[in-house]
Amino acid sequence: DKGEYRHYMLKEIYEQPQVINNVLEGRIHQGRVLEQIFGTNASELFDQVKMVQIVACGTSYNAGVVARYWIEKLAGIPCMVEVASEFRYRATVCMPGTLFITISQSGETADTLSALREAKEQNYLGFLSICNVPGSSLVRESDLSLMTNAGPEIGVASTKAFTSQLVALMLTTLILARRNGYAEEEQMVANLEKLSGLCEQVLALDPAIQSMAEHFVDKHHTLFLGRGTIYPVAVEGALKLKEISYIHAEAYPAGELKHGPLALVDDDMPVVAVAPNNSLLEKLQANLEEVRARGGKLFLFADSRAKVKPGNDLQLITLPDLATEMAPIIYSIPLQLLSYYVAVLKGTDVDQPRNLAKSVTVE
Ligand code: M6R
Repeated sequence: DKGEYRHYMLKEIYEQPQVINNVLEGRIHQGRVLEQIFGTNASELFDQVKMVQIVACGTSYNAGVVARYWIEKLAGIPCMVEVASEFRYRATVCMPGTLFITISQSGETADTLSALREAKEQNYLGFLSICNVPGSSLVRESDLSLMTNAGPEIGVASTKAFTSQLVALMLTTLILARRNGYAEEEQMVANLEKLSGLCEQVLALDPAIQSMAEHFVDKHHTLFLGRGTIYPVAVEGALKLKEISYIHAEAYPAGELKHGPLALVDDDMPVVAVAPNNSLLEKLQANLEEVRARGGKLFLFADSRAKVKPGNDLQLITLPDLATEMAPIIYSIPLQLLSYYVAVLKGTDVDQPRNLAKSVTVE
């Protein structure tokens, strides 16, 4: 039931403050993540992890790319991420002590499931699935699982599944990080507990994002930029836009601009820049000035700390200041809303975009 909402996608975007709390519910005790939430014998397995291989498709893959940044930074162990359709068909090398993680909303995606089955023929340490559907094939065939508890997602464009996967992946990161002497788990858990409120604040920006959407309706191409953990968020923002509005959207790590895509920039191609406060903000700001110097129109999502000169070539949506590690979760939300309103203005079938199925159970 869509209730008061015009589309399932909008309803699911608005469910995120609740969904984020659902992922945390029963998973934390005295400021620390409980290990048994992953399954029996989880601790023993986690003790032996020396490396992580993540495999997933689409939006779930994008969540995996965010997790790579977190795992390497906080847990200090190597992490590789690959789309399942590539992983399953190439000769891969399994290093001893590697934990194999699949991420999937449905738990029934054919490529992800086949990648898991392929990996089981190799010498992986163990198999963990991060999944939204209890009892799905992926969960049944994995040793450990962490459910995202986001509730049924009806809109083909994944929204709440993505943010709940990110929260679940941060819980996983913290479990690995404590084995590496990471001392800020309680602080990070406190940050996770603040997410739901921040999410509400971001949803309140809805009218401003809706007006921003008007600038995209008659465009054919867009560029999304981010750096660090926000690069995969930009990729996910671009995926949402192409999926439901059929506008061609490409995402680039902003540092790559000069290596090619800058040639595309003109006043007919909106550039969406996602710029939370982090160690790369200054570098990103320099990249944005390069875009402006070429007549590009910028649509910027940043917090009060960004130093940009507004002008009629730059529209700014200001998000609340937040802890760096939480930015990928929170900055995904305005990008979901942006795509949603562009699609509504274009009159496309938001919940059931052409040519796509919610669950890709065949190759
Ligand atoms: O159920 P899964 O998470 O395994 O699905 C993976 C992709 O098919 C899915 O995320 C797809 O990319 C979404 N429609 C994107 O919004």
